[in-house]
Amino acid sequence: MTQISKQELTAPAAQVEQYLEDYLKSLDTLPRNLVDAMAYSLLGPGKRMRPILVVRAAEAVGGDAECAMPAAAAIEMIHCFSLIHDDLPAMDDDDLRRGRPTLHKHTNDAMAILAGDAMMGLAFELITSRITPAERSVQILQELAAGTNAMIAGQVYDTLPDFDSQIPSLDRLRTIHRNKTGALIRASVRMGAICAGATDDQLEAITRYGEAIGLMFQIVDDVLDVTATTEQLGKTAGKDVEQDKLTYPAVMGLDASRVEVERLRMEAHNALECLGPAARHLLDLCQYLAVRTK
Ligand code: IPE
Ligand code: IPE
Ligand code: MG
Ligand code: MG
Ligand code: MG
Repeated sequence: MTQISKQELTAPAAQVEQYLEDYLKSLDTLPRNLVDAMAYSLLGPGKRMRPILVVRAAEAVGGDAECAMPAAAAIEMIHCFSLIHDDLPAMDDDDLRRGRPTLHKHTNDAMAILAGDAMMGLAFELITSRITPAERSVQILQELAAGTNAMIAGQVYDTLPDFDSQIPSLDRLRTIHRNKTGALIRASVRMGAICAGATDDQLEAITRYGEAIGLMFQIVDDVLDVTATTEQLGKTAGKDVEQDKLTYPAVMGLDASRVEVERLRMEAHNALECLGPAARHLLDLCQYLAVRTK
């Protein structure tokens, strides 16, 4: 890891939060309580890893944070929508998220469902209204749609796991994780690179990076569910065992899960080689994401 501080690495978070706050203020025709519910989720204390990845991927191919802001904000909206619905009683049934009550506990189930629904539409609206030229906007929309659809498919596999039970658990597990979590992370870096006008070769490298860290991100999440405390995570630890989820620690144990994290970190690292020094923040991010503790 090149020695830059975590603060510098995650600096785009503050910019995207300001952008989201301004965007929410502009939604004055929507019901006030709906906008408040979206703000609770969107501006709450999350890590903003996906928007940070959008910005850092744009920079890795010669763009800047400014050009990446609409895509960065849109992906955080889809991510927050996924978390709100993930926490609902019909899904993971969680009361705690980011150290605070989940949105359905803070408001109620109906508002949580509707706030998630609204953010899905608004994310797409943000891209169509704020990214030019139209051709680039359509490309970003396609990435966002593909990531969102895969995330939802992954949540179906995770929540209603009676799919393809004849295939080995490790293959099923990879399918779940690549979809429910990997796809939005892959979309984040691809959208950032497209915003900055990446060449085909650059986009291919960024995609390999995104696929590796996308799977790695969920394996680390699974490991932390077993090894970290509720206080540290800001969400209920030990939920996966309690709910009998198919996770990396459950299928291959903790040690082998950590080896897999390291393998994917290296894969992500190697994918960036052809991008040179401009990709240094992406390089530091894959290191940071491999060892994160929350
Ligand atoms: C949690 O994502 C859900 C997963 C896909 C593992 P994050 O760990 O990025 O959650 P926040 O946004 O920082 O709260
Ligand atoms: C969540 O996976 C993936 C999403 C699409 C939200 P988890 O259910 O493991 O996420 P946490 O642990 O609740 O954040
Ligand atoms: Mg879940
Ligand atoms: Mg969950
Ligand atoms: Mg989890």
